[in-house]
Amino acid sequence: MRDGLRNTAHKILSMKQTSKTQTILVTGGAGFIGSHFARLAARRGMRVIVLDKLTYAGNPENLEDIRRGRKTAGLLEFYRGDICNAEMVEHVFAREGIDFVVNFAAETHVDRSLLGAGSFIDTDVRGVHVLLEACLRHKTARFIQVSTDEVYGSVAEGSSKESDTLSPRNPYSAAKTGGELLARSYWTSHGLPVIVTRGSNTYGPNQYPEKLLPLFATNAIDGQPLPLYGDGLQVRDWLHATDHCSAIFFLMEKGEPGEAYNVPGGNERTNLEMTRVILDELGRPESLIRRVEDRPGHDRRYSIDGSKLRALGWRPAVLWEQGVRKTVRWYAENGSWWRPLRSGEFLEYYKRQYGKRLGI
Ligand code: NAD
Ligand code: TYD
Repeated sequence: MRDGLRNTAHKILSMKQTSKTQTILVTGGAGFIGSHFARLAARRGMRVIVLDKLTYAGNPENLEDIRRGRKTAGLLEFYRGDICNAEMVEHVFAREGIDFVVNFAAETHVDRSLLGAGSFIDTDVRGVHVLLEACLRHKTARFIQVSTDEVYGSVAEGSSKESDTLSPRNPYSAAKTGGELLARSYWTSHGLPVIVTRGSNTYGPNQYPEKLLPLFATNAIDGQPLPLYGDGLQVRDWLHATDHCSAIFFLMEKGEPGEAYNVPGGNERTNLEMTRVILDELGRPESLIRRVEDRPGHDRRYSIDGSKLRALGWRPAVLWEQGVRKTVRWYAENGSWWRPLRSGEFLEYYKRQYGKRLGI
């Protein structure tokens, strides 16, 4: 029974590969990485259906150049909707004829998950379930669950392999772990061709200014303090958004259903190193760095082993320091993108998260 279903799924994939225009559903496509992916898919000639709830992190402006692009105009369709809403999801599947699904939709910020985890469980677990059920009904050829290196938890030494035990330590990474395990269970239980990707910390243009790089760059541009948690020696592996998306696209075609793949950038750096490059690029003094109370349960280090993906032939293209400097310049030159975001809800969040830490 299971193998029968698997074969059906494979047949569907090869049939659809020969058809003219493939249709891809990009959930969370108005967010940071999702919008980079929507651009890549449209440039490769796919019809791109974006389904996005437009939470504080979603921004339709991120998709404007795709809508207007010479090669991409007419390839993008946008639905505002919640992946937890089964009726809405069914409507999109029935209407658009979806070949592939790449699920970026998620609540994504660790600090917010420490302030309240409910929406994380809803979107990052329950929303995945709604999408999986729709994919089963419509015999979707691939379901890519975009997961994270954070599912391994803090790694003192060495690098996590895909077969390692998952040990998430904050509500965000625990919810993402739930989502990816559920997704993979639909392969073993129902033969749905699911692939899980576990990308590293991602940076690039259009990232909501709550995460390390955009928060520190935009604060520094305005001469405000940079709230560095603890000793600033925590290590993250940095991956450019365009590399993250190219790996996901690559795995959609070359990955094995039922498998998980690490997507490292190969750039392990301390937060202090990252902060210094940001300040240097903007010509701002290191006196802007403010050591503040640490994040509770702060994962000290993430490090993933990329040999499984490398063996298939994928490599990242962006060099870390060049990529970071170029991204910082993007923020310096695109105040019209981020200034409106640093108001209203953002200011409330900023006060809650940093008020006591920064004494403001
Ligand atoms: P983001 O917060 O910038 O964007 C998330 C998008 O999802 C937003 O557009 C938001 O409106 C949408 N969304 C949220 N809840 C939704 C819902 N219920 N229904 C429909 N849309 C909803 O996030 P990002 O940084 O672009 O991350 C995208 C994905 O990549 C996430 O799944 C995240 O876990 C994963 N990831 C991110 C990183 C990183 O460093 N940013 C690294 C590895 C993996
Ligand atoms: P973040 O961008 O929130 O990503 P994640 O927690 O998912 O890795 O944070 C990256 C690192 O930067 C992490 O070690 C926490 C640290 N950090 C600070 O020191 N200060 C801050 O204000 C933020 C947002 C992050």
